[in-house]
Amino acid sequence: MSRRLFSTLSRLQHENPLGLPRSGAPPQIPRMQRGLPQKRNIKDVRKVIAVSSAKGGVGKSTIAVNLALSFARRGLRSGILDTDIFGPSIPTLLNLSGEPRLSSNNQLIPLSNYGIKSMSMGYLVDEKAAVVWRGLMVMKALQQLLHEVEWGGLDILVLDLPPGTGDTQLTITQQVNLDGAVIVSTPQDIALKDAVKGITMFNKVNVPLLGMVQNMSIFTCPHCNKSTHIFGSEGVTRECANHNIEFLGDIPLHPRICDDADRGIPTVVAEPGSERAETFMAIADKIRVKLGL
Ligand SMILES: Nc1ncnc2c1ncn2[C@@H]1O[C@H](COP(=O)(O)OP(=O)(O)OP(=O)(O)O)[C@@H](O)[C@H]1O
Ligand SMILES: [Mg+2]
Repeated sequence: MSRRLFSTLSRLQHENPLGLPRSGAPPQIPRMQRGLPQKRNIKDVRKVIAVSSAKGGVGKSTIAVNLALSFARRGLRSGILDTDIFGPSIPTLLNLSGEPRLSSNNQLIPLSNYGIKSMSMGYLVDEKAAVVWRGLMVMKALQQLLHEVEWGGLDILVLDLPPGTGDTQLTITQQVNLDGAVIVSTPQDIALKDAVKGITMFNKVNVPLLGMVQNMSIFTCPHCNKSTHIFGSEGVTRECANHNIEFLGDIPLHPRICDDADRGIPTVVAEPGSERAETFMAIADKIRVKLGL
C-alpha cells in the first residue's frame, strides 16, 4: 500500500481528478461504445441503495449514516459512500479524517469507524478547502468514487446523495445498478414538492423506490413533555399514498440527533437503547427485508 498525494490544483485534468496513480495503459474504448455509459455493479458489493431527496437539509446524511450503522448492528457488512463532492458530511458524521491509502491495484481503501466502511471526497481534500470544479471534473471524480474504491466485500452500500436531481444523481443512476432508493423528506409542502421530484427522477430511470422516511415531524418538549408537529404530520404519508410507495418510518425532531451528528457519534451508536435509535433500526429492518438481506 502506498500513500497518495492529492491536490485539486495539481490535477486539473478530467480523466483522473482524484489523482489515482494508473497501472498500465488507459483502457481503449471503441468508438461504437462511446455515448451513454454502461450501468455497472459496484465491485464486491451485493446491494446498493441511495438515500436521496431533491431538497437540501432534510436529514439525508444523518439518516444514511444511521441506516448504514443499523445494517452493521444486524450483522451485515455495511458501508457508506458520500457522493456529495461539494459538501461532504460523512467525515464529520463518522468522526473520520485523513487521506485514504491505496491498494496494490491503485484502488482507494475505505476508512472505517463503528464497524462500517466509508469513502468521501472529504477525506481527499482539506476540511476547509473548497472544491472549485466544473461539471465534467465533478462527474469524473464521482465515477472514481463509484468504481475505484476497494470495498473488500460488502452486503450493503448506502449512497448518501447531495440535494437535487442534477448531474450527480443522473451519473449515479446511469452508471450504477441501484437496488433501490429511499426518499427523505420533512412534512411541509416546500420540502415535499422537491421530494416528489426525486420520486419522479427515480421512476424515470427505473430505480425501485424502497419507500419514504419522514424526518423532523414531531417534537416533544423536554420541559412540558407535550408533542408538537412543527412542520405538519401527514405530508409524507400522503405522498406515499399518492405515489404508491411504502412509508418506512418517522424520525422525531430531537436535539440529541443533531448533537450526536455534530460530535461524530451517530444516534444508533451514541444511544443505542433510545427510542430514536430503535426507529432508525426499524427502518433499516424494513429495507433489509425488501432487499432480501
Ligand atoms: N431528526 C432530527 N432531529 C434533529 N436534528 C436533525 C434531525 N435530522 C437531521 N438533523 C440535523 O439537521 C441538519 C441537516 O441534516 P443533514 O446534513 O443530515 O441533511 P442533508 O439532507 O444531508 O443536507 P444536505 O442537503 O446539505 O446534504 C444537521 O445539523 C442534522 O444534525
Ligand atoms: Mg447531506
